[in-house]
Amino acid sequence: MSRTLFVTTALPYANGPFHIGHIMEYIQADIWVRFQRMRGNTVHFVGADDAHGAPIMIAAEKAGKTPQEFVAEIAGGRKQYLDGFHISFDNWHSTDSPENTELSQDIYRKLKAKGLIATKTIEQFYDPVKGMFLPDRYIKGECPVCHSQDQYGDACEVCSSVYAPTELISPYSTLTGAAPVMKSSEHYFFKLSDPQCVDFLKSWTGGERLQSQVANKAREWLEGDSGLADWDISRDEPYFGIPIPDAPGKYFYVWLDAPVGYLASLKNYCARAGIDFAALLKDPETEQIHFIGKDIIYFHTLFWPAMLKFADYKVPDRVYVHGFMTVKSEKMSKSRGTGISPLKYLAIGMNAEWLRYYIAAKLNSNVEDVDFIPDDFIARVNSDLIGKYVNIASRCAGFVTKKFGGKLDAPQFSPEITAAYSGAAAEIAAFYETREYGKAARKIMELADLANQYVDANKPWELAKQAGQEAQLHAVCSTALALFRELTLYLKPILPHLAEQAEKLLNVAPMAWSDAWKPLAAGHQINAYTHLMARVDPKLLDTLLPPEEAAEPAPAKAVAKAAAKPATKAEAKPADAAGAGLISIDDFAKVDLRIARIVNAEHVEGAEKLIKITLDVGEEKPRTVFAGIKSAYDPGTLIGKHTVMVANLAPRKMKFGLSEGMILAASDPAGKHPGLFILQPHQGALPGMKVK
Ligand code: MSP
Ligand code: ZN
Repeated sequence: MSRTLFVTTALPYANGPFHIGHIMEYIQADIWVRFQRMRGNTVHFVGADDAHGAPIMIAAEKAGKTPQEFVAEIAGGRKQYLDGFHISFDNWHSTDSPENTELSQDIYRKLKAKGLIATKTIEQFYDPVKGMFLPDRYIKGECPVCHSQDQYGDACEVCSSVYAPTELISPYSTLTGAAPVMKSSEHYFFKLSDPQCVDFLKSWTGGERLQSQVANKAREWLEGDSGLADWDISRDEPYFGIPIPDAPGKYFYVWLDAPVGYLASLKNYCARAGIDFAALLKDPETEQIHFIGKDIIYFHTLFWPAMLKFADYKVPDRVYVHGFMTVKSEKMSKSRGTGISPLKYLAIGMNAEWLRYYIAAKLNSNVEDVDFIPDDFIARVNSDLIGKYVNIASRCAGFVTKKFGGKLDAPQFSPEITAAYSGAAAEIAAFYETREYGKAARKIMELADLANQYVDANKPWELAKQAGQEAQLHAVCSTALALFRELTLYLKPILPHLAEQAEKLLNVAPMAWSDAWKPLAAGHQINAYTHLMARVDPKLLDTLLPPEEAAEPAPAKAVAKAAAKPATKAEAKPADAAGAGLISIDDFAKVDLRIARIVNAEHVEGAEKLIKITLDVGEEKPRTVFAGIKSAYDPGTLIGKHTVMVANLAPRKMKFGLSEGMILAASDPAGKHPGLFILQPHQGALPGMKVK
């Protein structure tokens, strides 16, 4: 039976252009959506800008614009990214819209009628210099739970706790640097601590809706010592947001109306498409699915389902959480502008589908980060897409056109190929359905390997030169193209544009999943082969990510991470040890680890994260290394200590000088336990000793 799916991605703040992390989220969701459409399911896939909130109001003010003008400008830039990366949203809307005002106020009124809204006069931080109540994001201080420094006023990025800004230790206003003062004002609260809310959320988070890691996190929050606190949903004017009914001067906090924007965009779309919005949402068969990143789990697994439930709306059926995109193991930072600019990616002529494929090949259903590694990107795209997939058509289609008037013969599948291909569609479908795209890509490439082995064994280029081999040539090329057609179908959710070109070549209507393993009949006419996809030129990656842009080195932890991963080239090889994330002893031996004595350590002028370290590694001259450990160490305390360094890392030119190696440090990749800890050998180890 066909399904009806209402699918969303998180609504990006309308305070800046998309970054590569947004694009990754859209690609993940878009692949899923395209797969569902190929299955014959009805999908309503919508997004919107998250327009409200104090930060946007303040940014607009700084830019000399009204918030509406400011947001409209950002919204105007969205299309080029979405089209450029083939993201197939049915609608893109805004939370600053009549639909959202109506829906947010309706939800609020229903919650109020249920007795779930309370008011309380609270003391709140006020910036005496700026003359306004301070939005959470403009207060920083020490996390009351894990004691990490410089955490925002609403949630800790290190331990993911959510709290009130007044709970921060040593707070300061980031607008003026002033210590905020307390001022009282009446606030509106959603009574999440109400037992019916808690009971509902315990059952909602308990089912199959959430990935186990996400469900565990939600249950930790639900069952923690402090339980669920009531949620402060109001802000005082001046505020860019939706007015709270019957509460002059009060607005909904942006996170109240932001997820309602999912419904607002759907409603706006329904009106245009002639769909009955109310009926669609009321239908128990409609599945509501949200794709989000790991940083906004709290809002989507607690606040949002509770809001919907007690306002008598449909509750989400699934929340699919992904990890973060990093670039060369570095967290992206908007302020420092590192990472990959999606527009630059397109502008320099890089193919959007290379990125779609690369991201797909690295994604699974867990909440794991996805690291963009340039060499890995080049190897994977060139070897899989060009070397395996496109290669089949480029080696066989020309003969069909030239020698057989473009007409196919009946394919002749060997028992081995029939066995591998005939059941593949079901297996691959299950991978797409569960967002195991990496497994789907691997499976498809295994099938492509079989097709190439078939072509290699039958050598159409030689048959073409031999007299009397026409029938054999015709059969071989037709068989290979039949397999190419299957692979196209399997890859289509990931590579929609390439698949469209392949469909043109094969002269077939857009393929649905049900077309799998229904080879074209003898006599079917194909079109002449035209170039399908170019190889990645490594120079493009240098343009995309100039070495200078990577000036701030990865913190030392990246070394340990990189070393734990298989080498790029090995990773591209299927079915060897590298495939299981293992490396050989020879691979390990390539890393020259040495004991080093820290002769000197000093701050680097203008560097946020770096300490300049001089190391004695038993060589004639000491080495200089820039290490991203400033957050964890006072340089003076390091001098005289021994540590471990990677001595054969290619020297790296950085903004502040040449770095001639790396020192090793430990850190928790999940960020749960903050801190960075340099390795230190037992007493007796001397500079230059080899570590193995
Ligand atoms: N406006 C809120 C979401 C409201 S949803 C009702 C917001 N916006 S955001 O622009 O900061 O993030 C939008 C989405 O992008 C989130 O799902 C977030 O997790 C995701 N990402 C932000 N940085 C990311 C990466 N580096 N990698 C992958 N996704 C990332 O949060
Ligand atoms: Zn914390």
